[in-house]
Amino acid sequence: MTSLPKSIAEKFKFFWAWIKSPASVASVVPSSSELTAAMIEASGLKPGDRILELGPGTGVFTRALLDSGIEEDQLVLVEFSPEFADQLRQDFPKAKLVEGDAFLVLKELKQEGERFSAALSGLPLLMFTEDVREDCIRGCLEILEPAGCLCQFTYSPTPLVPDNKDWEAKVSERIWQNIPPAVVWSYRKNID
Ligand SMILES: C[S@@+](CC[C@H](N)C(=O)[O-])C[C@H]1O[C@@H](n2cnc3c(N)ncnc32)[C@H](O)[C@@H]1O
Repeated sequence: MTSLPKSIAEKFKFFWAWIKSPASVASVVPSSSELTAAMIEASGLKPGDRILELGPGTGVFTRALLDSGIEEDQLVLVEFSPEFADQLRQDFPKAKLVEGDAFLVLKELKQEGERFSAALSGLPLLMFTEDVREDCIRGCLEILEPAGCLCQFTYSPTPLVPDNKDWEAKVSERIWQNIPPAVVWSYRKNID
């Protein structure tokens, strides 16, 4: 029997994960190539960087990170879903895969003194209160290099958090080709 092409199998896997856990998967299909490109561009990454990815799902951003010249062993992937985590372990064996809740893992990474050049997040922050979203952004920025960027996409028409003196926030154009259409927010520490 012939097997499905990997990209189609991944879409089915994603859809099935959404059926089982709509709140945490938060979309019926993985992010589009257009949204992926916008995330990579906003991150300002360069070869040799160490990157944190939160909520990688089927790994569309992860693959784009490798295509952008990031070494697989410089990736730390934090995924809550055991099914996605198993697949990520198989697809990216040299990356460090942390299976668990990103909100807790961020605290552990800080305690361990970990440092990253940039962070890409697919976490469904809209499902959380504004306080939790702010904690997540702050938690990421605390473990980034001073000029490091946290990129977070959202389907929301409004900012995820109000303006804040601790960081500078920029938003991309809306990416209409994505399902649902999305924007990329990039956050950098205010250093003055
Ligand atoms: C909207 S999907 C994004 C997946 C992928 N980054 C993409 O863009 O196609 C959200 C992802 O975040 C994961 N997730 C949700 N809550 C999480 C949490 N608290 N910690 C880690 N991962 C989480 C889900 O399992 C899912 O993989």
